[in-house]
Parts: sequence; structure tokens; C-alpha cells
Amino acid sequence: MNVVLMGPPGAGKGTQAEIIRQHYSIPVIATGDMFREAVSQKTELGTKAKHYMDQGQLVPDEVTIGIVKERLAQPDCQDGFMLDGFPRTTPQAEALDQVLADTGRKIEAAINISVTEEVLIERIEGRVSCPDCKTIYHLNFNPASAEGICDECGASLTYRSDDRGDVAKKRLEVYLEQTLPLLEYYKEQGLLFNIDGNRPADEVFRDIKGILENL
Ligand code: AP5
Repeated sequence: MNVVLMGPPGAGKGTQAEIIRQHYSIPVIATGDMFREAVSQKTELGTKAKHYMDQGQLVPDEVTIGIVKERLAQPDCQDGFMLDGFPRTTPQAEALDQVLADTGRKIEAAINISVTEEVLIERIEGRVSCPDCKTIYHLNFNPASAEGICDECGASLTYRSDDRGDVAKKRLEVYLEQTLPLLEYYKEQGLLFNIDGNRPADEVFRDIKGILENL
């Protein structure tokens, strides 16, 4: 399966992507995670990406398309993949289609997790995650067993710097301006599936599973 997972900041894309990865053993390509890793490693890509991420803006298309293209060329992606947070602009979606067509592949579904703004804010404000193994928690909805400590690897949990105040607000604005119109791109191709994300993660996954098993 070659699938795109879409939705606003805090909708639960990363949470669902991890459940899907475990359930179907397919690679997840999460551009936000790739950029955060580059930032923490202080690579050239990280320095470039940080400038935009700190402001809640999208990293330029040519940079983002480049890293996804490289990742999709790797052997583990040839039998299926899940994209989390990419594409986010029409040029990214068009580039993705071209890259896949060049290797005889195509997107089979774009799954959009739809969540009200009130719920998004609640989810973003309470999110903590593990800087090492990347496990995502929520202080109320999905807390770690021991406060502040990752259940999986024992590292100290951290807040994401772009989840704070104005930056989080900007990310939502950028989503509405640049990414929401992209839903029409997939709708026109008959590939868009909308899921009500205002429900517990296991219920959201049940619907996603229903879609994936009919592809
Ligand atoms: P990215 O990391 O992709 O951030 P995002 O799209 O804003 O999405 P989030 O990671 O905030 O949320 P999510 O939907 O994954 O929610 P999560 O599962 O964590 O991108 C960060 C930045 O990188 C961008 O701003 C941009 O600068 C750059 N970037 C990335 N991709 C790019 C691209 N393609 N082009 C250009 N720039 C790009 O859940 C949130 C919280 O809610 C968690 O605490 C979780 O435990 C909880 N939760 C999840 N589901 C549920 C549920 N069903 N019920 C209750 N709680 C839930």
C-alpha cells in the first residue's frame, strides 16, 4: 500500500502512523520527524529546516521534495509506505506523483484525519514526546506510566518547541492556507478518505484499517 496520511497539526497523524507501522510492518516517512532529527544532529539540512520550523512555516518545497524522493528510492519503500505530513502543498503532491510514476508506482489513498480546532489545541498543548525513540504521549489522553519518563526507552519526555503559543497558531494558519486546499487535489482523483479524528485513537485506527483493507 502506498498511502498518504493528512490532517492539521495535532490531528493524530503521528499517533496513527505508528499504529499502522506496527500493524502492517510498512515504513512510515514522516517529514516532521526527519527535520527534527536533522535539527538535533545539527546537519546542514537541520540548520535550514530549523529557521522555518521555529516560525511555524513550511520548509521550502525543493528541500522537502528532495528528502522524500531520496527516502522513497530506498529498498524498504518499494513494497509500500505511509507518508505522514507530506505532501503539504500542491507542488509537493505533483512532485510525489511524478517520482512514483517514474518507478511505476502511485498513491492509492489519501486519508485525512479531520479534527475540530478546539480538540487540536487541547492535543497540541498536552503533547509530550520522547526525543530518543519518538514515542508520542499526551499528558491527559495518553500519559506515560511514570510522569515525564518514556515507557519504551526510559528517556525524559520533552515538549516540542513549535507547540508553544504563537508558533502553534501559525502552524494552524499555514495548514489552512497551504495544505487544506490539497484535499481537493486528492478528491478530484477519487483518492480522498475523510476520517472523524475527534475520537479515541483506537476508534480512529479502526476506520483507517477499514480503508486500508479495501485497497
Ligand atoms: P510535523 O511534525 O509534521 O507536524 P504537524 O503536521 O504540525 O503535525 P503534528 O506532529 O503536530 O501532529 P500529529 O497530527 O502528528 O499529531 P500527534 O499524533 O502527535 O511538522 C513539523 C514542522 O516540520 C512543520 O511545521 C514544518 O515546518 C516542517 N514540515 C514537516 N513536513 C513538511 C512538509 N511536507 N513541507 C514543508 N515543511 C514540513 O498527536 C498530537 C497529540 O494528541 C499527542 O499528544 C497524542 O498523544 C494525542 N492524540 C493523538 N490522537 C489522539 C486521539 N485520537 N485522541 C486523543 N489524543 C490523541
